[in-house]
Amino acid sequence: SNPSILILPGDGIGPEVMAQVTRIIDWYGNKRDLAFDVSTDLVGGAAYDAHGVPLHDDTMARAMQVDAVLLGAVGGPKYDDLDFSVKPERGLLRLRKEMDLFSNLRPAQCFDALADFSSLKKDIVAGLDIMIVRELTSGVYFGEPRGIFNEGNERVGINTQRYTESEIERVARSAFELAMARGKKLCSMEKANVMESGVLWREVVTRVHADYPEVELSHMYADNGAMQLVRAPKQFDVIVTDNLFGDILSDCAAMLTGSLGMLPSASLGAPMDNGRPRAMYEPVHGSAPDITGQSKANPIACILSFAMALRYSFDQGAEADRLEAAIETVLADGLRTADLLGEDGVTPVSTSGMGDAILAA
Ligand code: NAI
Ligand code: MG
Repeated sequence: SNPSILILPGDGIGPEVMAQVTRIIDWYGNKRDLAFDVSTDLVGGAAYDAHGVPLHDDTMARAMQVDAVLLGAVGGPKYDDLDFSVKPERGLLRLRKEMDLFSNLRPAQCFDALADFSSLKKDIVAGLDIMIVRELTSGVYFGEPRGIFNEGNERVGINTQRYTESEIERVARSAFELAMARGKKLCSMEKANVMESGVLWREVVTRVHADYPEVELSHMYADNGAMQLVRAPKQFDVIVTDNLFGDILSDCAAMLTGSLGMLPSASLGAPMDNGRPRAMYEPVHGSAPDITGQSKANPIACILSFAMALRYSFDQGAEADRLEAAIETVLADGLRTADLLGEDGVTPVSTSGMGDAILAA
């Protein structure tokens, strides 16, 4: 049977950008004999409107069965005052948690045509292609004890950085696997100089390295890593780090390349019966209520997320390369959605105009 995809367009510009991905998926079925079984469902505010919950149990069950989930974005001002338990982002969090997506991949890739668009000097980012692997389900965002407690005559706020060896090992493996498929270079970032969890992290990553002798492994303190990412990002290929440092370092790396509208992500879990990881792919951006309904949204982040699905869930690395090359071509031809415009007076293309051009390329 065909590989299966569950599409969850979500809210705001989510459905607008996902519509372009759907066209590309159809194209693969018609032109490349690469057909997918696609089903579509609701998440976030859209699911709340229909069912009173941001993710229906049936949708959750379906997400556990498919080969990959593609998600647009969730949220919007309409839902800002909802009770925390039914807020749109809870739908997303439930998917991540129940699918146990512990490895979050955030590429920072600079398309040549957009090198001028970075906030850094062109020669620092031109040709940049790195991948940050962030541990997503443990660490200081989840560790116990946590809370605000009374202590003497004042209060104390507590979070706990906590990693088990197996939690470190599985994300390390995922990063080594990725490094094997890329430039065979992995840099692990923690603060082993001041944190016990960092000491354990370094020890476990070093141990896992024995299974991947072809990969050149280095270790770096995360604060130095932040500096090196801005000073000379091209020294890296794959970076693996914990949840907190990864949150910050991946946002930093992302902005080396320009617009939010260009940034894809993948969140991977344990292997399923077919040997591929359980997976969800989504653009980094949110639902962009300020431009919703105006055909201005850049669909490239969502399309690049589908390219990651081709690569990591469907074993179609060559097709992923071609899709990325088509995007590069279109950008080199000067096509720009509004978020990619500098001050040179180019007329922006619409969301579907960008989709048209990428399909043509
Ligand atoms: P946002 O990412 O939606 O928008 C930030 C800015 O970037 C806006 O000016 C927007 O117009 C622009 N932008 C974002 N994506 C774009 C695209 N594809 N093309 C062109 N411009 C784009 O973040 P914001 O405004 O903080 O949040 C808006 C809503 O989205 C909130 O409800 C928030 O909770 C939700 N959100 C959802 C996320 C998700 O579903 N993963 C992630 C971040 C925010
Ligand atoms: Mg963040």
